[in-house]
Amino acid sequence: MLSNYLRQKLSSPLQIGSLKIKSRVFQSPLSGVTDFTFRRLVRRYAPQSMIYTEMINATDVYHLKHVPKLITIDIDEQPISIQLFGCRPYPMVKAAQKSVKKGAKTIDINMGCPVSKITKKGGGSHLLRQPNIAQEIVKEVVKSIGVPVTVKTRIGWSDQEINIIDFAKRMEDSGAAMLTIHGRTRAQGYNGKARWEWIAKVKETLSIPIIANGDIFSVESALKCLEITGADGVMCSRGTLGYPFLVGEIDYFLRTGIRKSAPTPKQRLECAKEHLNGLWEHKGQRGIYQSRKHLAWYCKAFPGASELRDHVSRIETVEQGNRLLDEALEFCKNI
Ligand SMILES: Cc1cc2nc3c(=O)[nH]c(=O)nc-3n(C[C@H](O)[C@H](O)[C@H](O)COP(=O)(O)O)c2cc1C
Repeated sequence: MLSNYLRQKLSSPLQIGSLKIKSRVFQSPLSGVTDFTFRRLVRRYAPQSMIYTEMINATDVYHLKHVPKLITIDIDEQPISIQLFGCRPYPMVKAAQKSVKKGAKTIDINMGCPVSKITKKGGGSHLLRQPNIAQEIVKEVVKSIGVPVTVKTRIGWSDQEINIIDFAKRMEDSGAAMLTIHGRTRAQGYNGKARWEWIAKVKETLSIPIIANGDIFSVESALKCLEITGADGVMCSRGTLGYPFLVGEIDYFLRTGIRKSAPTPKQRLECAKEHLNGLWEHKGQRGIYQSRKHLAWYCKAFPGASELRDHVSRIETVEQGNRLLDEALEFCKNI
């Protein structure tokens, strides 16, 4: 359980450079997940939380005449952060400027992505190995926009190269207004436990806000992580897949000390239906294919869930998806 000091701190607003936000629980950027439809669902339960777009290639934003759909955000989607990846300061500056025009309240720079396609080109977690370039990017972007610049990174490239303390200090010195640390190395990918103790060490060293990320799957894990790290907030990731309620549940507990009751199977299925129809409305047939994984993630912990998962993973049309979910809703209506 949290000490009184931590409880008081965590229920107060968070200052990120010039920006004050009311919630210390964040929805992470998730490529292929945190699109407009998903963000709208998270926002309903966590209206004051910062929500991140999927990571976006800075060079695309800079080069393309039309602004990529990925950074299309709604006027009332606030506070929102646009996350950019890349390894060259100039395109990053230009992309950041465009993103601010689109309404980003902060620009987050991805320095943690482990995917080879991105690291091979020098972006994502590869920047942990190129701290001078990482610093230059942050310095240039900070100079060129009027909103806070933040960085999301990992604890290091591998067990042999854990450099987060030095790296974090360099980010702070370069003008980053906040740092989110995923407590794994690049080599770990998403395996093994997040090593929150490294986040604690960074927190002891830096003055800017530190957000802890990795293995936040419930109110309990968020509290444990905050206790161990002393971080200024937490960021939820895989725990929100098929469960857009998580950020709101943790936020509510930090502010009130009261645990929200978990959504019933009926509420989860209704949410799944809304997710499906939102994807259809915004993306058409592509949205239906994308909805398969989301719908499968919702199918957990109710009678018939595994059979339903099997069926929703193969839907071809929105009508098919709605019919399957309506049947499940009828079955679960009294649970
Ligand atoms: C499907 C998926 C997509 C992700 N996309 C991004 C991304 O676009 N940008 C980013 O910084 N991290 C991304 N991540 C990493 C997460 O934001 C987070 O750092 C990581 O999952 C650790 O948290 P967890 O253990 O709670 O899942 C992604 C992770 C997953 C599983």
